[in-house]
Order: sequence, then structure tokens, then C-alpha cells
Amino acid sequence: MLYGKNDQSKTSLYARPIFGSPSSDRDIPKYKLNPDPIEPRIAYQLVKDELLDEGVARQNLATFCQTYMEPEATKLLGETLEKNAIDKSEYPRTAELENRCVNMIADLWHAPEQENYMGTSTVGSSEACMLGGMAMKFRWRTRAEKAGIDVISRRPNLVISSGYQVCWEKFCVYWDVDMRLVPMTRDNMSIDVANVTDYIDEYTIGVVGILGITYTGCYDDIEALDAKLTEYNKTAKVSVPIHVDAASGGLYTPFMEPDLKWDFRLDNVVSINTSGHKYGLVYPGIGWVLWRDCDYLPQELIFKVSYLGGEMPTMAINFSRSASQIIGQFYNFMRFGYNGYKEIHQRTHDVAVFLAKTVEDTGRFEMYNNGEHLPIVCYKLKDDNAHEWTLYDLADRLQMKGWQVPAYPLPADLQDTIIQRYVVRADFGMNMADEFADDFRNAIDELDKARVLSEKNPDNRVRGFTH
Ligand SMILES: Cc1ncc(COP(=O)(O)O)c(C=O)c1O
Repeated sequence: MLYGKNDQSKTSLYARPIFGSPSSDRDIPKYKLNPDPIEPRIAYQLVKDELLDEGVARQNLATFCQTYMEPEATKLLGETLEKNAIDKSEYPRTAELENRCVNMIADLWHAPEQENYMGTSTVGSSEACMLGGMAMKFRWRTRAEKAGIDVISRRPNLVISSGYQVCWEKFCVYWDVDMRLVPMTRDNMSIDVANVTDYIDEYTIGVVGILGITYTGCYDDIEALDAKLTEYNKTAKVSVPIHVDAASGGLYTPFMEPDLKWDFRLDNVVSINTSGHKYGLVYPGIGWVLWRDCDYLPQELIFKVSYLGGEMPTMAINFSRSASQIIGQFYNFMRFGYNGYKEIHQRTHDVAVFLAKTVEDTGRFEMYNNGEHLPIVCYKLKDDNAHEWTLYDLADRLQMKGWQVPAYPLPADLQDTIIQRYVVRADFGMNMADEFADDFRNAIDELDKARVLSEKNPDNRVRGFTH
């Protein structure tokens, strides 16, 4: 978010005192620095109180990001916050843990033995997508120039389905790339593989396949996309690669559907990103991007940082950030191992399937996702809904019980359809799901009997949603 002068919406002073304490008995400005220090105890309480009236993270069914880590992991994170991930020389053991994580992920994604994979941690998938996109752009430019294509007077383009996450729009704006959207349709809620080559030309830097479309949790058919591009590339002047945006599927699918081909087993997949803070089970602040071979990572994008008297290649947009999330990711990998992740994801999947059945059993909704791939439940109201309430009203009702469940329109060309989505995470157990199911049924019952009072203009109720 961007903030400015017009955002000074509160009275500008803290009301005093708190807890009748004399140490808090003075004015503290809200939008200017306090001239003098205050006691840590008072500062702690004031900040804590600021955050009081906020959603409970574990009841937030809107987010893919982790809302729970084990106490041991949290302790480790807290004890390593001061380590700067970029200071490889000062913290060589941390650098080694990052290296091990990259290697473990490469193994999960079937990086081919005969190629020389490379990868790095990032702040999240957004940074990882920027890096993947930049690598495709730079590599395209070199190859297009060689093929005699005018790379100066026309902009390159990136092909992706209209179900893209906002980070790809940012990538295209920041790096001057045209975004070519393959529309999703009511009957095909993922990239339209049959027609994707209509959007590709010699200015295409790559196609992005999404393993977990943000809106619905559905998967693009990346194996079919790969086959289509193999055909296209046979006669292409500049071959077109695939980057897989596996923000949510990248650390879920390898455990739950190991036979599904979406990764480096497919020849045209050159790079993949994922969010460690989604199904990698780490608190927010960690992502990963890997290339199948160093050939796909142009040298201009690699910068050297000092490392034990020598130099180490790095690729990142940020410089300084805490290394604690990398350490948290390594902890999880070591602690859970392959079978531990699989068990956790299986339980999460079972909860999603239970919730989907709860929704379906009401007979009121048309399902877009019933937890089949990612543990996501997504639905719309059936067209013959006889009641005046909408999914926004249902979201409001559920919020009264503390549940945060988003309702939002589908993307371009489908925006008349309002959907609702739950993201099930590891800390959403069957007991909680049972409570939620009761609240869900009661909310519908109450709404059926209620005279619904909400915004008159339906357009004002529409909320955007990007995560
Ligand atoms: C498909 C997809 N790509 C990218 C992102 C951005 O991920 P992050 O929040 O890790 O930056 C998301 C986030 O929801 C996503 O769903």
C-alpha cells in the first residue's frame, strides 16, 4: 500500500493513560516521531493494543501464506532474525543451508542430472517471478538479435492466462513487456492450450503456466502446454520456453501428485518459482526460483558478493533481508522430510475435501474446486438461487464468527461471476473445519430468513482480490 498525508485519519494523539500507569501519562503523537523515548513495557502494550482489533490469522481462510509454525521453528526464526542473508562471508553456514534448500527443491522438481541447475531464495514468489521473467527477457533478446529480429522498435511480450497473479502485471509494467492474456472461459478455467500459439510470435519471451491459479486454485495443464510448445518450437525463429509459476503448487504437488508432470521433466520448462511461505510451511517472507540449467540464466543478471575471501554469484532484487526465513525453510525440510510433508498435506487435503462436501451438500452452490489438487474450496452461487443474499453477505455473516472468507469477481471477461474461496492450511484441523461447517450452515440459514441490508449499488460491493 502507499500512504500519504491524507491518510492521517485518526486523532493525532494517543489518549492517555493506559492501565493507569504514570509512565504512560504523557502525549504521544500518532503521525510524527515522539520527541522522547517511552518505556518498552508501555510501547509494547500500545503497539499490541493497536493490533487488537484485527483478524485472527488462523481464521483467515483467504491466504495461502502460513499462519503456524512449530515452537522450535519459531524459536529458531526469532534467534536468527539479525542475520543478513546477503552477508555470505559473515554467515557462511546460513549460505550453506540456502544451498541445501535449493538442491532439495531441485530434486523434488526433477532437475535433470545432465544439466546444471541453479536457484536462489527470494522474499516470495513475486520476487521469484520477476527474476524468472527477467531471465526469459534477457535470453530472448540475445537470441532474437542473433536471428535478425528488430529488438529495438518493438516490445517483447509474455503470454499467460487471464487468471494471472498481479506480480506478472507488475513484471510487465516494470520491465516494459506486453502482457498477452489468453482468456479463461466459463468452460475452461485455465490456460487455453489449444489456442495458446495464436498469442505467440517471435517477440514472445516465454509462456507462464500456473500451478495453482490464485482465483480458483485450479492448475494449468502444463504437460499439454509443453507438448504444444514442442510442436511450435520445431519451426520457430526463436524458441519459446515455459516458466511455471508454482507459487502454491510447487511444494504441494511433488508430495501429493508425484506422477503429475509439470516440472523439469518437461523439456520446455526452463524455470520454476514457488513460495516457501505457502505449502513450504514457513511464515511469510520466503520464495524460491530455480533454472534447469545455467544456460537459461543470462550472465548480465548475476552479481557477485564476497564470500570467504572469494566471490559468490547472486541473483536478487533486494539486497539486505533477514536470513531467518531461509533457516526456517531448512528446519522444515529437515524436520518433516518427504513423508512428513506428505502426511501434513494429506491431512490438509482431507479437510478441504470435507469442506467442499459441506458446501456441495447444501445444494446451493456450483463448485469450481473441491480440493482435488490444491486444498482449495471454491464455488459460486447457483444461477437459480432464489434468495436475495449474495456471497458478499455470506462473507459478512461468517466474519461475525471471526472467519475471514473472501468473495470476489473472476478476472476479465468473467467478472460477472462472483466466487468464494477457502484456502485450507496445515493449521486448519478437522475440529476447526467442523466448527466452520456449522457456522457456514447457520449463516446460510440466518441469511435465508433475514431481510438483507447491504450496499444498494451492487458495484460498490465488489471487492478486488489478488492473493
Ligand atoms: C500464482 C501466484 N503467483 C505469485 C504469487 C505471489 O506470491 P508471493 O505472495 O509469495 O509474492 C501468488 C500469491 O498468491 C500466486 O498465487
